[in-house]
Amino acid sequence: MHRMLMNARNVLVGSAMALALGLSGPVYSFDDGAEVTIDYRQGLMRALGGNMSSTAAIVVDGADFRDNLLVHTRYIVDATRDIPALFPEGSDFGETDALMSIWEDPERFEELSRENHEAAVALHEAVEQGDDAAALMPRFRNVGESCRACHEDFRRTD
Ligand code: HEC
Repeated sequence: MHRMLMNARNVLVGSAMALALGLSGPVYSFDDGAEVTIDYRQGLMRALGGNMSSTAAIVVDGADFRDNLLVHTRYIVDATRDIPALFPEGSDFGETDALMSIWEDPERFEELSRENHEAAVALHEAVEQGDDAAALMPRFRNVGESCRACHEDFRRTD
């Protein structure tokens, strides 16, 4: 009995290790990997768009949801922390508007991503300290402009 338990335990440990080493479980082809990466990053970008729209409705148009601002600006801060990681080499084909220039000029792509993130942090901090809409407006514009700056150079817009 004791022996059988030991064996069962060894089998479990063995298969956990095989999983950890990627020796079993689903096998993804390279193409599938690129496809889910593209789906993921486009979803994240759309969520950024939604949070920017909601922020604009509050900050620019005066929608009565000031208490929700932190939720939106925190998402923008978190989701822009490492945009280049969403664009690994090989994710440049299929249903994507990503331009080859991302992989040809990664330094510029990273720089624009960093500027976008810094603008988001500045906006979020102003929201945290309770700034009014007039003070938030220029910071919000900086975020929007730095989103657009990257799209102009690195996203297909036809
Ligand atoms: C460093 C570059 C970069 C920054 C910064 C950036 N984006 Fe993007 N964005 C892209 C690229 C590249 C694509 C195309 C992705 C694809 O199709 O695979 C994209 C796609 C999008 C899309 C379309 C998603 C879809 O459904 O296809 C939206 C919406 C979007 N971005 C919103 C934003 C917003 C809002 C911000 C700022 C808060 C932002 N992006 C910041 C590079 C960037």
